Amino acid sequence: MNDTFLKACRGEKTEYTPVWMMRQAGRYMPEYQKVRGNISFLDLCKTPELCVEVTLQPVDRFDMDAAILFSDILIPMEAMGAKLEFHEGRGPIFEETIRDKKTVDALAVPDPQESMGFVLETIRLLRHVLKVPLIGFSGAPFTCATYLIEGGTSKTFWETKKMMFMQPDLFCSLMEKITLCTLSYLRAQAEAGAQALMIFDSWAGILAPCDFEEFVLPCVKRIITGLKETKLPIIYFANNGATLIDLSVRSGADVIGIDWRINIRDAIRRVGRKAIQGNLDPFALMLPQDKLRERIRHLLHAAQEANGYIFNLGHGVHQFTPPDQVKYAVDAVHDLSGK
Ligand code: CP3
Repeated sequence: MNDTFLKACRGEKTEYTPVWMMRQAGRYMPEYQKVRGNISFLDLCKTPELCVEVTLQPVDRFDMDAAILFSDILIPMEAMGAKLEFHEGRGPIFEETIRDKKTVDALAVPDPQESMGFVLETIRLLRHVLKVPLIGFSGAPFTCATYLIEGGTSKTFWETKKMMFMQPDLFCSLMEKITLCTLSYLRAQAEAGAQALMIFDSWAGILAPCDFEEFVLPCVKRIITGLKETKLPIIYFANNGATLIDLSVRSGADVIGIDWRINIRDAIRRVGRKAIQGNLDPFALMLPQDKLRERIRHLLHAAQEANGYIFNLGHGVHQFTPPDQVKYAVDAVHDLSGK
């Protein structure tokens, strides 16, 4: 088993720099599109054999040092009782928004095995075939809450902030339900065989630090504290979170994921002894290869100061990225770091 990624998560020295990419499985890969040609995204997420296939696609093709379970952060929201649809080009949609006591109370805290057994089955199947560590994941409560409250992606997050500021008790009761669901879901992933767990807070960056500290951090901390007994490394990624790094460190996560909007040297100073993951701009994959290589070289050089470093993008691989550029980047990281 290649455990370079897990070593880096624990802050141990590695022979070379491990690399994987957020959204490494997805539409930019023709082999993924081939699978998706016959099935909707949600049905794909619910078919373990196909989830295994698409999880493996980037690992095999690009020689990634970690696999990430193929699923979506909104699967547990559906398990809580929110009716989820994915519309081509519009992303996720919840027709019935969660904005009052009645709809919050109606949400369940589901048993993961009963309602999301297909995810756990995918993990078990993957562990039989993978030669690199498997990352399980969930959305963070705040990010999940924005989708439920807004009914999908939003530009202003008006409804979310309105609820947070005008009905803080209602907002906190929704956050608490999602927190409980997320904790039991991630525990179940650990039991099924996930070897690291990542919490995606894609929309945390819309918050003022004081609101992040009051409304969001306690929930993330509660999840991470509740996962300590699994002994798995926990990665917390707050997208657009450069201003939230000091607070993110207090979440108790072992690894802090960072986006590309911050110089990695500044980020390393602020995460202290924790390991760090990131932070190449996903669009830098469009650079000519010599320029891309230089950028990777700089990143690797700066990251030598980190107490554990995992190469990644600052956010997911963009849908139109040429797969050959991904391959080039992975090889460059391995080459330049001495593999
Ligand atoms: O390879 C991997 O990273 C594993 C799978 C994965 C997906 N989504 C598959 C997916 C992971 C880890 C996610 C996380 C996720 N999902 C996040 C957090 C990370 C981030 O990007 O900030 C969020 C916010 C979501 C919610 C979500 N799911 C959105 C907004 C969309 C639509 C956007 C888009 O790219 O179309 C999805 C759909 C989705 N999730 C796709 C994939 C491969 C595209 C579905 C398709 O095939 O049409």
